[in-house]
Amino acid sequence: MEIVTAAIENYLIRVTPQEDPILKEMEARARETNFPIVGPLVGRLLYQFVKLTGSHRVLELGSGFGYSAYWFGQALGDSGELILTELLEENLALAKDSLERGKISSRARFYQGDALEILEDLEGQFDIIFNDVDKHQYPEVFKRATPRLRSGGLLISDNVLWQGKVVEGQPDERTRGILEYNRLIFESSEFFSSIIPIRDGISVSLKS
Ligand SMILES: C[S@@+](CC[C@H](N)C(=O)[O-])C[C@H]1O[C@@H](n2cnc3c(N)ncnc32)[C@H](O)[C@@H]1O
Repeated sequence: MEIVTAAIENYLIRVTPQEDPILKEMEARARETNFPIVGPLVGRLLYQFVKLTGSHRVLELGSGFGYSAYWFGQALGDSGELILTELLEENLALAKDSLERGKISSRARFYQGDALEILEDLEGQFDIIFNDVDKHQYPEVFKRATPRLRSGGLLISDNVLWQGKVVEGQPDERTRGILEYNRLIFESSEFFSSIIPIRDGISVSLKS
């Protein structure tokens, strides 16, 4: 099911300036390998969220080959800290390479393994936690990530409309994970949440 019609999505992408050669290269890699990156429309939004909240410390859960991280890294500036977590070593190696070439790797730390386990070993609180791990893990992310956000911080999750499967019958395990996550973000009195229906749906939850 289309979340945004192809014509509108194409228009939005066409009208959006995209000059950075490394981002363009990463977008091409995603197309060629059919790898699910957030894409330029959500990427710009992530950049804006960093600037709007004055964030300095961002944690990514499920960094892939670093596309969303690249947007965060650009927004953070030299004094920021960006933590990437990724299951697969080959993805993390590509992320390092792109962030190094983009001259933003000095503000990045790279961790290979299960993001939720890595989170347990990290210290301190975060201004933004961006969640893009396997979808059945989303409710667990909500449970473990929310105490690690500062007051006024943002919990952002990708794919919360899951190609429209959230409104179809007989949800599979991943869809059930997303449905439960969406229920949790709206039910929690600690968060004020919205779902923005661009690309595959992105949720933004502001911690009180
Ligand atoms: C949708 S992709 C991430 C794309 C990336 N956020 C972007 O937009 O550029 C999801 C990634 O999360 C990784 N992943 C899935 N579950 C994970 C987990 N529990 N811990 C760490 N990485 C995970 C996968 O290997 C995959 O590379």
